[in-house]
Amino acid sequence: MTQEPHDHTDPEHEHDEEDDDLELTDFSSELQTLHFEVVDEVGVITIDRPDALNALNGEVLYELGIAFELAQADLGVRALVITGSGRAFVAGADIGGLQGLSDGFSGREGSLAGQDVMNALAALPMPTVAAINGFALGGGLELALAADLRVASPSAKLGLPEVGLGIIPGYGGTQRLPRLIGQGRAFDLIFTGRHVGADEALQMGLVNRVAEDALAGAMELAQLTLKNAPVALGLAKESVVRGLELELSQGLEVEADLFGMALLTEDAKEGMSAFLEKRAAEFKGQ
Ligand code: COA
Repeated sequence: MTQEPHDHTDPEHEHDEEDDDLELTDFSSELQTLHFEVVDEVGVITIDRPDALNALNGEVLYELGIAFELAQADLGVRALVITGSGRAFVAGADIGGLQGLSDGFSGREGSLAGQDVMNALAALPMPTVAAINGFALGGGLELALAADLRVASPSAKLGLPEVGLGIIPGYGGTQRLPRLIGQGRAFDLIFTGRHVGADEALQMGLVNRVAEDALAGAMELAQLTLKNAPVALGLAKESVVRGLELELSQGLEVEADLFGMALLTEDAKEGMSAFLEKRAAEFKGQ
């Protein structure tokens, strides 16, 4: 990356952009298939292969890994939005590339490699939102499922059509979809391969919100989290994610441990003092 992180204290940078209300830094200069920008403390990843409906080839997956690392670098990113350019979010894994996986071993390795990228998104310590602006099929829906929250535009189409290609979802879809919407609904989508629209996706809990403009809706949702304590957000996320893999009693133990950690933070002292002193809290992320 050639650009330095935006220095919020440097007055020379205050009027970098035409729009004075927007603090925007673009770290995309060395990325070929996607853009990574920071807009008012929200990292925005835009996958940009519109001619292939943003299908996930090896290069996109590799660069997504870089973008997720950038989100954790010291750039002041407190929430992350991921979207696609053109009329798709992501129309799946690149089918041409999948054909090259000619034996069971390379298929398994390809699945694990894609899962690693989805896991990296799921493991980010800040809230993440998928802005589903169009097709989110196959690997595209699996990417959206690895985000914490999903906002769809009215024209979005979501589905896992893999069995129609003679394969199965391999980037986490058979695992994250039933955990999110339940086994019966997941089987409906996986067995039929059908595309669901935004309203049905909302009804089944597959997306959190429908917004006329998915990116604007996702940014709004991401920004709603920014007033809250960053470390607490990360610990709350960790508690939910780890707890879902455990029995209730074990999950409650995890919650108590993480509650104890949260209570030790400077931000916890600040948050509770601010409440008692009837003022807005000023969190430092410590
Ligand atoms: N992999 C590779 N290329 C893809 C792709 C994918 N998953 N999805 C779309 N594309 C390409 C198409 O091949 C086409 O390329 P071309 O213009 O060079 O022919 C381009 O993107 C536009 O797609 P097209 O099919 O012409 O658009 P459409 O509006 O008629 O249909 C879809 C859109 C999303 C319904 C259709 O492209 C589709 O079914 N894609 C595959 C979805 C899928 O099965 N995903 C799971 C993969 S595991």
